[in-house]
Amino acid sequence: DPVPVLTIDGPSGSGKGTVSRLAAARLGWHYLDSGALYRAVGAAAARAGLDLADVEALARLTRDTRIEFREDPDGELRVLVDGEDATDALRTEEAGAAASTIAAIPEVREALKDRQRGFRRPPGLVADGRDMGTVIFPDAPFKVFLTASAGERAERRYKQLKGKGVSVTMDGLLREILARDARDADRAVAPLRPAPGAVHIDTTGLGIDEVVERVLAVVAS
Ligand code: C5P
Repeated sequence: DPVPVLTIDGPSGSGKGTVSRLAAARLGWHYLDSGALYRAVGAAAARAGLDLADVEALARLTRDTRIEFREDPDGELRVLVDGEDATDALRTEEAGAAASTIAAIPEVREALKDRQRGFRRPPGLVADGRDMGTVIFPDAPFKVFLTASAGERAERRYKQLKGKGVSVTMDGLLREILARDARDADRAVAPLRPAPGAVHIDTTGLGIDEVVERVLAVVAS
């Protein structure tokens, strides 16, 4: 039997990351944070000073950048890019914007395809992103599409970043979230769309635990 996959797609701030990690832990499955791959490539491209129009060089960089996930002793997921811990740098809104810019380039997406599919190992995988259910794992038996109002997503991001000591304003965050939504939904390749058959969960006003239960119910059904 093919290894089961639970895809969790949705816009930034919908709670995907936290919910996906908790669901993976409850199921005892592996976890793929596909956004971190795009963030890592975006940061690597910026550091290398690559011209975003040079798609050949970008594709090469995408293939050559080493990206590893490691869980630290207190259970936090760290992202190592070419051997260096880049977790905190990759979490900024700036890194998110850089990711969504290079994520619109078909050659970059193509170069990341096999790497993402490589995370599908027994006993199962929870894959979090924008096109997990539509492009990367179209045959996944379990698909969820998470949403939340833009205001609530900005508020969650605000708390998250504030907690990490990053200085941001609600207004700025809301603007950035709406701009990134538009870029992700309007791009020609792999735009953010619910996969056919995906279970929609609107997380506005719901606590994390409630969302995790609803997501796990999709796997149990
Ligand atoms: O999920 P996260 O906010 O970390 O993703 C950062 C950006 O990477 C997104 O705004 C999106 O443009 C891109 N991305 C994508 N496809 C994925 C995951 C992320 O295009 N599967």
